[in-house]
Amino acid sequence: MKPYVFITRKIPEQLLTELYEMAEVKMWEHEDVPVPNNILKEELERADAVFSLVSDPIGSEQLSNCPNLKVIANMAVGYDNIDVRLATSKGIVVGHTPDVLTDTTADLTFALLLATARRIPEAASYVKNDEWSQWSPYLLAGTDVHHKTIGIVGMGRIGEAVARRAKGFDMNILYHNRSRKAVAEQEIGAQYCTFEELLKQSDYVVCLAPLTPETKEIFNAKAFQQMKDSAIFINASRGGLVNESDLEEALKNGVIKGAGLDVFAKEPIRVNHPLVQLPNVVAIPHIGSATVETRDAMVKMTVQNIVRSLKGEQPIAAVNLKELGV
Ligand code: GLV
Ligand code: GLV
Repeated sequence: MKPYVFITRKIPEQLLTELYEMAEVKMWEHEDVPVPNNILKEELERADAVFSLVSDPIGSEQLSNCPNLKVIANMAVGYDNIDVRLATSKGIVVGHTPDVLTDTTADLTFALLLATARRIPEAASYVKNDEWSQWSPYLLAGTDVHHKTIGIVGMGRIGEAVARRAKGFDMNILYHNRSRKAVAEQEIGAQYCTFEELLKQSDYVVCLAPLTPETKEIFNAKAFQQMKDSAIFINASRGGLVNESDLEEALKNGVIKGAGLDVFAKEPIRVNHPLVQLPNVVAIPHIGSATVETRDAMVKMTVQNIVRSLKGEQPIAAVNLKELGV
């Protein structure tokens, strides 16, 4: 009997050929709507593999009855939507998609930084809304990026790729990470410092650390108070690293100058979200790795993670292989 694979969202069929050849595949048929929890649970009772997205929570409830499940392949580099410890205890491989999205996500992070600093969304609306009746010297004047200090919190692959972009803008580069990064220090000239020192010195504080129990809400009132009042905060990692009501207060009261946010504590957000209402916030809908090329590459890698795991081979990238002894 062929293994059974459940895909939690509509994915382009032409990228799934290899999966169709080796497995019985069922796909949640909507592109824009996540699979409802009850259907996900029902499918997991039968599935040998699941192709999941960041919008699918897979925790103790979803994993309570999954006798055949061998692999959860998340189409993302982040995997905080999955209870990895529980999956590991059940012998389930947790795959993800690092590397293929590094440069694409770094491009978006830097674009968001530039857009926030130079007020590009506001300026574009200004023209589209036909408000440009006069030019004036300080019209939509923003803040310089070049030669300023960027502080990168989370110097993984994406953090390092952002640092390389910052170097091209002649920025002074600080970083904070659990471990020191020799390559970033020697080749890019990034300087390691404590979280507090980074907050104090940076003009742009860029969050790229994964969400873990240790990083949850590290950007809180205390952190914002340590930043310069001219600082711009950029988040392209996970909303859970930020206490959003503290950020809102900081932005309202001039504790920091602005924020560019690709991610939020609870997604999607709507226009009535307090952060979206603020004039000094650029909010975008979790599109860090969203280019057609990279999304295709992520799908292919997710498919390979499933195919290889089901064949008993090493997946391309999984987060718990060592723990599983694979
Ligand atoms: C997206 O947020 C990812 O983790 O790839
Ligand atoms: C995080 O996982 C990264 O790739 O930077």
